Amino acid sequence: MDIVFNNVSHIYMRNTPFEKYALKDIKVTIPSRSFTAIIGATGSGKSTLTQHINGLLTPSKGTVQIGSHHITRKVRRDMRALRQDVGYIFQYPEHQLFEETVEKDICFGPLNFDVSETIAKRKAHEMIELVGLSKDILQRSPFELSGGQMRRVAIAGVLASEPKVIVLDEPTASLDPIGREEMMTLFTTYQKEHEATIVLVTHQMEEVAQYADHVIVMNKGEIAMQGTPSEVFSQSDMLSAIGLHPPPIMKLGHQFKRRFNLDEWPTVFDEGELAEHMAAFLLSGREK
Ligand SMILES: Nc1ncnc2c1ncn2[C@@H]1O[C@H](COP(=O)(O)OP(=O)(O)OP(=O)(O)O)[C@@H](O)[C@H]1O
Ligand SMILES: [Mg+2]
Repeated sequence: MDIVFNNVSHIYMRNTPFEKYALKDIKVTIPSRSFTAIIGATGSGKSTLTQHINGLLTPSKGTVQIGSHHITRKVRRDMRALRQDVGYIFQYPEHQLFEETVEKDICFGPLNFDVSETIAKRKAHEMIELVGLSKDILQRSPFELSGGQMRRVAIAGVLASEPKVIVLDEPTASLDPIGREEMMTLFTTYQKEHEATIVLVTHQMEEVAQYADHVIVMNKGEIAMQGTPSEVFSQSDMLSAIGLHPPPIMKLGHQFKRRFNLDEWPTVFDEGELAEHMAAFLLSGREK
């Protein structure tokens, strides 16, 4: 399901001295089944934008279309159906836990959407494995688990409703690099298996380069740029003007290009691939 923002503005604390235009006339489409990254400096409006996708926020002006769901300032009718289609994972998903056992927590979403108890339990078993935890954990209290385990349980809970769209607002912040990679692999596996759309808010440019196929750059409540990661990251001057920097691996490629005065240099984000390009260039030079 495509997600279309039609001239969306969002104003916090409207008609007060603290009125804040957090989104200004946003026109953008997040394509169905894409892995779209939303980047931008702190306070640029990323969370405000994504919270419109599951109706946590409604637009002050304009409309948001998510598949067949239409959200306007007033329409809140089919929120339940919308929340079934759109799973939202916050920066600290473990704060979303509340049930007495892990199993009940994971089953909560599906049961809420009228799935039978047998099927909900089956989903819980399936999802606990998908997030890399043992089934033994299902009967324990979520509050006696480690922070990393709690996070995985919370994510299993969101995935158990099998949303078609998953919105992730900095889900890997404060995780170590291995935890971060495991988490991202989890989301890409889910995306493949369910043909889902992923919307990822992140400050990690390496993550964008590695996983996203579409990037939206926000600046002061507006869309500054959008395109593929290589299109966006090749605009390094524009990015640095708004306080963002391409991933370090791209810098290395640029330095190499400059050092050898090359007109062309491919945009690559993978270390192995970059090493191969460099080796090919150096070896071919030697043979001349
Ligand atoms: N509940 C609120 N009430 C008033 N202003 C708000 C509220 N939430 C956000 N804002 C303001 O709206 C603007 C956009 O905030 P938002 O949280 O969308 O930014 P962000 O890009 O997600 O930032 P970060 O990277 O720090 O998470 C900011 O100026 C922020 O101060
Ligand atoms: Mg935010």
